[in-house]
Amino acid sequence: MKVAVFGLGYVGTVTAAGLAARGHEVAGVDVDTLKVDMISSGRSPVVEPGIDTLVREAVAAGRLQATTDVRLAIDGADVSLICVGTPSSPRGDTDLGFIERVLRDLRGAMDVAAPPASGHHCVVVRSTVPPGTGAKVVAPVFTEHPRPSGWSVGTAMCPEFLREGCGVEDFFAPPFVVVGTADTRTRDTLTELFAFLGQEVHHVDVGSAEALKYACNAFHAVKVTFANEMGRVLSPYGVDAREVMEIFCEDHKLNIAPAYLRPGFAFGGSCLPKDLRALQSMARHIDVEIPMVGSAMVSNEIAVRSLVDRVLATGLRRVCLLGLSFKMDTDDLRESPNLEVAERLVGKGLDVRIFDPIVNPDLLIGANLRHLQSKLAHVNRLLAATPEEALDGAEVVLVSSSDPAGLTALLAAAPRLVIDLHGRLGADVERLQPYEGVSW
Ligand SMILES: NC(=O)c1ccc[n+]([C@@H]2O[C@H](COP(=O)([O-])OP(=O)(O)OC[C@H]3O[C@@H](n4cnc5c(N)ncnc54)[C@H](O)[C@@H]3O)[C@@H](O)[C@H]2O)c1
Repeated sequence: MKVAVFGLGYVGTVTAAGLAARGHEVAGVDVDTLKVDMISSGRSPVVEPGIDTLVREAVAAGRLQATTDVRLAIDGADVSLICVGTPSSPRGDTDLGFIERVLRDLRGAMDVAAPPASGHHCVVVRSTVPPGTGAKVVAPVFTEHPRPSGWSVGTAMCPEFLREGCGVEDFFAPPFVVVGTADTRTRDTLTELFAFLGQEVHHVDVGSAEALKYACNAFHAVKVTFANEMGRVLSPYGVDAREVMEIFCEDHKLNIAPAYLRPGFAFGGSCLPKDLRALQSMARHIDVEIPMVGSAMVSNEIAVRSLVDRVLATGLRRVCLLGLSFKMDTDDLRESPNLEVAERLVGKGLDVRIFDPIVNPDLLIGANLRHLQSKLAHVNRLLAATPEEALDGAEVVLVSSSDPAGLTALLAAAPRLVIDLHGRLGADVERLQPYEGVSW
């Protein structure tokens, strides 16, 4: 394919040279003449293992050239890949100024450049941009003004996941290939463009493709911070945090795993809150700060509070909780956030009824029973024997169970609002109207 790459920094240079190495005909565009001159003379403007050879060979083979002239670059091009910087503004917003300028230049150049042989040109953002950029900033440039004759334009988001220092290696073996677009021609073109990677393409909507990069980078930052906080709190106790974290990373069932990585409701139970408090206490004793571990508790409380506020804001008075313990298949009620929600709603005078297939107050003993008595002494009165009984007259239903009997009863009950806390009930419940995920 004929590809124009805008921005010849780390992402743009690796992308341009990588695509050229796989047989595409690439024109790199940059406003920086030094970078353009370097590529034109077969040298890389960025330092990355393997990039010099890639650029030199691609330029020598005539498959990679560089220019400051947008018209030249998009003449007959099938795809434009936008790889310019998206720095932070002083307020922390993403400055889209470079993207906007490229879009303006691109749209202007279409009036004078030759359209691609197929007649279809894909404008693809590879820079990291906030969700909504494609819909509000990119697409309107090509839909709101008269289309240049001979050009049909589709827009897409295709995030880049390379790491500096091993950018070339990552470019050829990305963790995933993600294409976000509503345009089928653009979707097909990009699938073909990246076919050499031999990876299945994730076709998602534009917002998801935009958001994914932020989720990845936030998680990387959280992981570094977590390991550092563990080191900070453990080493003064004579513990080698490297050894702890090395063994920690061997757990691919819970630690380095999809477990606990689904958006949903608050954590709880007899261990997580207690042990987070213990870690904070250990840190306090040695005057060490571990704000991220501490803020997990704060964030968890916000999850509970937001749900309670959301129910109260509906003005509806009859609430049913399907599921009471902190997770499925246990009767352990200690520090269950669902119980906390029930208690707060009762405290606000709402009529709450609960069905949990496992929690039966007559069978609870020991710490569980004590917790139930202290947190929700009158829970016996709230607990229903069947889901139908709990749902009878319910206006708002909070679902955290995957109990099939609960689902059948829920589908029949047709309440005014369903808020799904864990998304475990499958597609059927999402057909209920109105259905809301707690955070999706
Ligand atoms: N660096 C990384 O490891 C990495 C990885 C994945 C994604 N990203 C994202 O990719 C984007 C680019 O990052 P980078 O590190 O390559 O940036 P960079 O600063 O190294 O390069 C950006 C290039 O864009 C050029 N440019 C600016 N305005 C232009 C215009 N109007 N026309 C043509 N060129 C223009 C600049 O001169 C510069 O050479 C950012 O959004 C970044 O968040 C970066």
